[in-house]
Amino acid sequence: MSRLQNPPFVIGMPTETVYGLAARIDSEQGIAAIFRLKERPFFDPLIVHVASIDQARALTSDWTPVADILVRRFWPGPLTLVLPKDGSINPMITSGLDTVGLRMPRHPKALELIESEGVPLAAPSANKFGKTSPTSAAHVLSEFGSAFEVIDGGECEVGLESTVLSLVQKGTETEATILRPGAISRSAIDKVVRVRWRENIDKRLAPGQMKHHYMPAVPLIFVRNPNEKIETLKETIRQKFSELPKEIDGVRIIQPNLSLHNIRTLELAHEGALAARQFYSRLRELAEKKPDLIIFYQETHHHGEDWEALFDRLTKAASLVV
Ligand code: TXA
Ligand code: MG
Repeated sequence: MSRLQNPPFVIGMPTETVYGLAARIDSEQGIAAIFRLKERPFFDPLIVHVASIDQARALTSDWTPVADILVRRFWPGPLTLVLPKDGSINPMITSGLDTVGLRMPRHPKALELIESEGVPLAAPSANKFGKTSPTSAAHVLSEFGSAFEVIDGGECEVGLESTVLSLVQKGTETEATILRPGAISRSAIDKVVRVRWRENIDKRLAPGQMKHHYMPAVPLIFVRNPNEKIETLKETIRQKFSELPKEIDGVRIIQPNLSLHNIRTLELAHEGALAARQFYSRLRELAEKKPDLIIFYQETHHHGEDWEALFDRLTKAASLVV
């Protein structure tokens, strides 16, 4: 029986990456509710979640051999493919672009939900636009209250959003661009397909790439030099905050209490995948304690592919990188 054909037309869906706010792709009201509840701008397209490769294929106009190899290797899992779309898909989902983002999540409760609806589900992360992503049902409830039901699937196993990979076929060659790094790395992709990598992201084709995103309720500062004296650091932070605009790309930058008496440090595991799993949840816990500021210190072991996705989120969640 469908759970999404009646009000409120949306549901909190656990996935292995983060919790999503899901609606049927054929539900005009559901799609509209996603944008309204998240306060998300209409220029930022939604990922469509499928329960089979055939469902994904039907939503594209050009299912390439490279796409086929990638999904057979990485689905279900944290890889979103951006491919030329089929004309039938609601343009609100794709923000009027010619492409659609597709992913098959591997959380059993997500697959069960998509299967029981019988149609793919559009689902962004279940947080307000620009804010920290949810990795537990409690996170979703704390942000949206009882506006919709949340399926409890426990804590997310990966903890960071999927890799978003754009594939463009140019004759016999495939151009690939990572629009958002995630658990499926470039070298993992290189092991199974031959693509020509493009580094530059065309902003018009990837409108979701804001400078700031994932921001906690208390400002986060990313500190490159862990040996910096705290007093020097405080001076730099006060100075830089006074120069910051109130809003960047439509995301509000919160000002801390500049006395900076109460500072908390974000500490994460020394292993990349584990640190990624902890990140959003630790960030929320610290913000709930309402310090003036949260600081993250970059350390020497934070390098390599294992840390790339996490550092993408950390630097975007940070109000300042100093
Ligand atoms: O792991 C995930 O991907 C999670 C879970 C819920 O599946 N979803 C997620 O959705 O992170 P969201 O909406 O928070 O982020 C989707 C990103 C955005 O940056 C969006 O701009 C990009 O994917 N995107 C979606 N469709 C696109 C398209 N057709 N072209 C370019 N970028 C696209
Ligand atoms: Mg998101």
